Amino acid sequence: MNGAAAAAVREEFRRVHGGEPDGVWAAPGRVNLIGEHTDYCDGFALPMALPQRTLVAARRRDDGLLRLHSAQGDGRTTELRVADLAPGGTGGWARYPAGVVWALRERGLDVGGADLHVSSTVPTGAGLSSSAALECAVAVAYDDLHGLGLDRPVLARVAQHAENAFAGVPCGIMDQMASVCCTAGHALHLDSRSLEVRQVPLDLTGHGLSLLVLDTRVQHDLADGAYAALRAGCERAAELLHVPALRELTEPDLPAALAALPPDLVPLVRHQVTENARVERTVDHLAAGEPEALGPVLTAGHASLRDDYRISCPETDLAVESAVAAGALGARMTGGGFGGSVIALVPAEAAAAVAAAVGDAFAAAGFTAPAVLEAVPSAGAERIG
Ligand code: GLA
Repeated sequence: MNGAAAAAVREEFRRVHGGEPDGVWAAPGRVNLIGEHTDYCDGFALPMALPQRTLVAARRRDDGLLRLHSAQGDGRTTELRVADLAPGGTGGWARYPAGVVWALRERGLDVGGADLHVSSTVPTGAGLSSSAALECAVAVAYDDLHGLGLDRPVLARVAQHAENAFAGVPCGIMDQMASVCCTAGHALHLDSRSLEVRQVPLDLTGHGLSLLVLDTRVQHDLADGAYAALRAGCERAAELLHVPALRELTEPDLPAALAALPPDLVPLVRHQVTENARVERTVDHLAAGEPEALGPVLTAGHASLRDDYRISCPETDLAVESAVAAGALGARMTGGGFGGSVIALVPAEAAAAVAAAVGDAFAAAGFTAPAVLEAVPSAGAERIG
């Protein structure tokens, strides 16, 4: 599969840029099983890579030009001078690859230009980390092209810095860590403080299960202020509680912590603490070989995001409710919130019926039909050609 995918992107590269690329790299989108909005509080998450991924065919240039083309773009090639790259100076999809080159140079790495051709199967605006996939594909390509030898967490930090400082999106580190560190057949247990990761075997098929991704088609921009406001609320709570980050608190600390906070911060802290506990519970169920036990944990996670964090919306709530009513073991919104995708853990034989029931419920509510994918835990970023 890698061979055919790489050959197709090489062919497109030849057509767009002329001549051969130096190589082809790929980085996946992700869904997060559990551990939502915990990454910027130094907490825990459990994402997995999707088979949908972004491919980049790349060739070094020595004249300081960065020439960017996307199979999903408007057909034009964007030409930028590497030495002139500056935050806010590039718009559209090009800000992600340009941001990665800028972020590498910000680290003092003397990287120059390149011809890049990008082709992606990660749905955009679905909360499946299409921007992280693009950043990470470019980061691993540059790492190889320039023999930088950066380790995976550093590549994730570079990609996150590109997104935060160059593209202006105040995201945490989960999406980039998932894209570079995930491995096939596993979820990734991520400690967002140390960036230590553990590969947690996730054999859903072997247990007769399937994880559906229901894209509600409601798009939300993390740069619009709501995400930053949640981050700021958590930081203020940590300050008031005299801890470096909310990840320090565990469930036994909750009653005293909540009593010490102004009412507007109480639900944020409750979500953070209970969500970290749900990550650990999920890992325990997986270690015990009982993935079907994840269902109620996922649904409890959704309730926390809906009622305490308040980042759900009618479409994500309806997707969760109708999936569970149709036989899903559990379901929750995944990603940044205010739309995007819902994951539903379903017995494999019920997958089609659950997807159909969610579609029917959306039609009855007058919502745009959801798109459905199956989340198969897949490989992280790699060179494929
Ligand atoms: C977005 C951000 C991540 C993370 C999730 C919520 O995907 O990019 O850093 O905060 O939202 O878990």
